[in-house]
Amino acid sequence: MLKGKKILIGITAGIAAYKIPFLIRLLIKEGAEIKVVMTAEACDFVTPLTLSVLSQNPVSIEPFSPADGTWHSHIELGSWADAFVIAPLTANSMAKMATGITDNLLLATYLAARCPVFYAPSMDVDMYHHKTTQHNISILKSHGNILISPNAGELASGLTGMGRLEEPAKIVELLQNYFAKYQSLAGKNVLISSGPTIEPIDPVRFISNYSSGRMGNSLAHEAASRGAFVTFVSGPVSEYPVHPNIQIIKVNSAAEMHTSCTEQFPKADICIMAAAVADYTPQNPEPDKIKKKEENILLKLLKTKDILADLGNLKSKKQLLIGFALETNNEIENAKEKLHTKNLDFIVLNSLKDESTGFGFTTNKVSIISKDHTVSKFELKTKTEVAADLFDFIQKEIV
Ligand code: CTP
Repeated sequence: MLKGKKILIGITAGIAAYKIPFLIRLLIKEGAEIKVVMTAEACDFVTPLTLSVLSQNPVSIEPFSPADGTWHSHIELGSWADAFVIAPLTANSMAKMATGITDNLLLATYLAARCPVFYAPSMDVDMYHHKTTQHNISILKSHGNILISPNAGELASGLTGMGRLEEPAKIVELLQNYFAKYQSLAGKNVLISSGPTIEPIDPVRFISNYSSGRMGNSLAHEAASRGAFVTFVSGPVSEYPVHPNIQIIKVNSAAEMHTSCTEQFPKADICIMAAAVADYTPQNPEPDKIKKKEENILLKLLKTKDILADLGNLKSKKQLLIGFALETNNEIENAKEKLHTKNLDFIVLNSLKDESTGFGFTTNKVSIISKDHTVSKFELKTKTEVAADLFDFIQKEIV
């Protein structure tokens, strides 16, 4: 499973760095290609020479090596890797990663990396349990990084407790499981709509909604990291997903989103419409800014085309079509009705009645309703976790 995989190992200055040569040997044995980036301080714990010999590659420490004039690009390292494993990760480097500080090559590589990042905190027991450390662990997790939890046991300080770096063989197993799961959509095309649409009233005003596009971004990331090629049709948002497997098509209005989605749909194996599409659009947007001369003005709105329903009509037997339903009352019944009228395979219901869910939040609580009306309920989770649940669910259904 690791044959040909490019794994970048990041080493920070923890005593557990002595385990990394063993990790590299195991990974090489499994057929992985290894490069190492380390902090200058980590060189006190394990020598770059050992790491370079074992990894069969030069080790990067500073952005520039005066000895041979080589420039080590953080961008290149990050885009070379299929996975970036930072082990051991000290409390200090973790705090910097959580706040975006990039005062060495390893940290800059982290911020620029496009691949999944695994982080293995390792430190003394009290430092590990400190609220700040725990907070930083959860920040990194919420940014989509994968935690390699430390073990409890005897520590270098002589104390006993949590903080021991996971054993190299276990880290290899974890990477194998990860790649097994994350190639599961290789060769599939996934179409996702996301974000709000904006409907012009005049050149400076529009009608829109509060959608941040976060749920769509998480879905795109999840599909892409499982190996799918993702076409992401998005209304205007402040953040778009970044991944080599994601092609972004930016649109503004419901009409533009309709054109792009119907154009892209024939090649999609799985299509998820997560956009908050405007249901109505001004009938005659004014070519010039409306002046405030009148006491009242009337805005005539026309119904937009229902993109999802139109795709439901075009759908072939081989394609999976999934919609979202945003409901404030009579949720399950309304969602079931949309499932049938739009000819969907599943519908994902998010209720605005739940706290911390919906527009603007980083968390969501959903239920997935199948054609046979089975309702699968999920707990309140981050949108990244909801996206993983949804793809796990879809993949279980299509096997
Ligand atoms: N949708 C769409 N095109 C539209 C309206 C909605 O593709 N013009 C899609 C959404 O992306 C979502 C699903 O239809 O996947 C349901 O959207 P929702 O806003 O919950 O419902 P509507 O169909 O718009 O119906 P209503 O507003 O009456 O609840």
